[in-house]
Amino acid sequence: MKGVDLSVEFCGLKLRNPLILTPGPMTQDGESILQAAKYGAGAVINRSIEKKGGKDPMPCLSSLGGGILNATTASASSVDDWIEREFPKAKKAGIPIIGSIFVLKAKSAIAEYTELAGKVADAGAAMLHVVTNYVDMSLDEARAIIASVKKTSDLPVCVNLNYAYDIERVGGLMRKAGADAALVVDGPWAMKIDVSTGMPIIGSPDGTGHLCGRPVHPLSVYCVYKLAKAVDMPLIGSGGVYSGEDALELMMAGATAVGLQSSVITGGFEKIREIRDEMSQILEEQGVKSVKDIVGKTIRLVKGRTEKDIKYHEKGNISLSEMRKILRNP
Ligand SMILES: Cc1cc2nc3c(=O)[nH]c(=O)nc-3n(C[C@H](O)[C@H](O)[C@H](O)COP(=O)(O)O)c2cc1C
Repeated sequence: MKGVDLSVEFCGLKLRNPLILTPGPMTQDGESILQAAKYGAGAVINRSIEKKGGKDPMPCLSSLGGGILNATTASASSVDDWIEREFPKAKKAGIPIIGSIFVLKAKSAIAEYTELAGKVADAGAAMLHVVTNYVDMSLDEARAIIASVKKTSDLPVCVNLNYAYDIERVGGLMRKAGADAALVVDGPWAMKIDVSTGMPIIGSPDGTGHLCGRPVHPLSVYCVYKLAKAVDMPLIGSGGVYSGEDALELMMAGATAVGLQSSVITGGFEKIREIRDEMSQILEEQGVKSVKDIVGKTIRLVKGRTEKDIKYHEKGNISLSEMRKILRNP
């Protein structure tokens, strides 16, 4: 496995491998960031920081559809706690720390995002990660926030995007507003109702949350593929990465780096090392020398596909019995 070069460059940051531990409980403080580095992460994005610290509703999590329904908010530590305590510790990890910021209420959001961005940049973040997709705001408001954050420092800015069928449009608008990169995707909005009471199973104000983990992976592959084709911007492919194969799929779809959170919550920090080693092994078996070579491979292959490469069913449509056979034995 020593033969495969896993290093990548992401917005000027040199990463020893493409695996970025994304915001969440596994990057909730300096200690967890040290662990992430020890187990091989290429970079981390801290659990998003809110000015005064977040408060999770009860209950804020549930397993759902093979994944996690998540209604947690930001890090409980305030921005000042991060500056005084967590960032100095985290910086000893020796890997790039991407500073994630979040504002809970859309009112006066621009001023607050701008203040947070300045503080996190001064604390030594290598890049900024701006989370506007948890707040009820328009795309225009989100664009104004990105434009304002961009002016606070020279750091590259990564925008956090939810699943969207028109991800090219949303990502393109963010790019025009000044985003240098995008995380694609954070979990789509989802909901589960307890039919014995009619109440949502989680306690967020409106009962909804983000679906994270396994079920999100195909949506992430779709969004990365669509956005990478349409907009010239480096992407972190994120959502449901549990194996080396999952990670490589997102890179072939066009991502330069790959995010992990749910698989590390359930499998522990060792999962990072396991996924990294699986990536190396698959690439070595394929005779690929550098992981950089596979970024966007699927885009290039599909672009070259012509009408004569496509095979059609003899009778026009696949028969119902063939369909059932395929679906019963995937
Ligand atoms: C419990 C939990 C907490 C999270 N907290 C944050 C957060 O603070 N900020 C953020 O931008 N994303 C947050 N996320 C989203 C993840 O970083 C990630 O983008 C998303 O879950 C999809 O990746 P995954 O399927 O590997 O978890 C959180 C996810 C989970 C499951």
